[in-house]
Amino acid sequence: MAELVLGIETSCDETSAAVLSVQDGRALLRSLVILSQDVHRIFGGVVPELASRAHLRTIGPVVDQALREAGAAREELTGIAATAGPGLIGPLLVGFTYGKTLAWRRGLPFIGVHHLEGHLFAATLEDPLLAPPFVALLVSGGHTMLLHVPEWGRYELMGQTRDDAAGEAFDKVAALLKLGYPGGPVIERLAREGAPDRFRFPRPLLVRSGAGRFEFSFSGLKTAVLRAVQLSDNLERDRADLARGFQDAVLEVLAEKTAMAVDEAGVGTVVLGGGVACNAALAASVGRSVGQSVRVVTATPRLNTDNAAMIAAAGAWRLSRGERSPWDAEATDNMVFPGLQPFSIANGQWAI
Ligand code: KG4
Ligand code: ZN
Repeated sequence: MAELVLGIETSCDETSAAVLSVQDGRALLRSLVILSQDVHRIFGGVVPELASRAHLRTIGPVVDQALREAGAAREELTGIAATAGPGLIGPLLVGFTYGKTLAWRRGLPFIGVHHLEGHLFAATLEDPLLAPPFVALLVSGGHTMLLHVPEWGRYELMGQTRDDAAGEAFDKVAALLKLGYPGGPVIERLAREGAPDRFRFPRPLLVRSGAGRFEFSFSGLKTAVLRAVQLSDNLERDRADLARGFQDAVLEVLAEKTAMAVDEAGVGTVVLGGGVACNAALAASVGRSVGQSVRVVTATPRLNTDNAAMIAAAGAWRLSRGERSPWDAEATDNMVFPGLQPFSIANGQWAI
C-alpha cells in the first residue's frame, strides 16, 4: 500500500505544505504549495514576529490547498512530517505544532525533520536513483557547509563557514547595490550582464592544504564589495559589473572547495542544495571544477529554496525506518547535524 505523507515547512518566511506518496521505496510528489511572505521586502530582511503571524494566518489554507491539489483527503494520510529546526523559533512552532496536532487528532505517526536534511533530500524528488555516497554542498541563507554523506542519515562535516553564509553574502551585497531582498536571484540576473574583468574580488580561504581548505569566509569579501561601491562615482554604470565580480568570487571559492572535497572523499557524485543552489552559474562552475567523471546533481529552484516537499521526502524516509517524534534519546541524536548546535523545540520536552 502506498504511504501518503504530508510535509510542512515554516522555518523562515515560506509557508509551505506538500503531499508525497511513496510506494515500493519510490517517492512521487503529488502536490507542493509555497506561499512566500512578501511583507519582509519592505524591511530588507525577515522580521521574525511578522513571519510568525503570517504563518499563523496561512498554515491552515496552505495545508488544505496541498491536500486538494494532491486529490487526497486528510483520512488518507499515513504520516506527517514538519520542520523541527533550525530556524526562527516562532515560525517553526506554527508549522511544527500544526503538524503535530493534526497527527495527534488522526492518530498518525509524526516526525520532526532537520531543515538541512530536508535540503539534502530535495534532489531525490526529481532523481529517484540519487543515493549516497556523495559530497553535498549546502548553501543557504543561514548555512554554508561541505558534507560527506556515506549513507542517508550519516552526515560528516568536512568544513563550513567561519562567518557569513553564502546566501547571506548575496543578500548583503544586494543591499549594498540597492537591489532589494532576497539578493541571490537578482544578483544572478544582473551578473549575466556584467563584465567579468572589471572588478576582481578576493577568493577568501582558497587554499589547497591545511585545516582551512574546506572552510569558508565571506565577510571580508562583502567588505571588499562595500569599498568598491564607496569608490564608485557611478553606481548605475558599475552595478552589473560589481555583481559579476562578486558572484564570480563566491562561485569560484564554492566550486574549487567542492572539487577538493570530492577528491578527498573519493566519491563520484556531488549534490548541491539550499537556496544558493538555485544559481545556475554555481552548478556550471562546480561542473567545470570537478570534471566530467563526477556527476553534479541539483534540484530545480522550486525545490532548492525552502519548501515542504523536501521535508516530506526526508520525513518519509525517517518514518519508513520506524522513527517517530516525540523523540527518544536516539531520535534526538538524529536531529544533531555535525557542526551545528543540537536543537529541539522546547528542549524536546513536548508531549501531547
Ligand atoms: O535555503 P533557502 O531558501 O533558505 C534558508 O534556509 O536560508 O536560501 C535562501 C538564500 C537567500 O540568501 C537567497 O538570496 C539565496 O538563497 N538565493 C540565491 C539564489 N536564489 C536564492 N543565491 C544565489 N543565486 C540565486 N539564484
Ligand atoms: Zn533552507
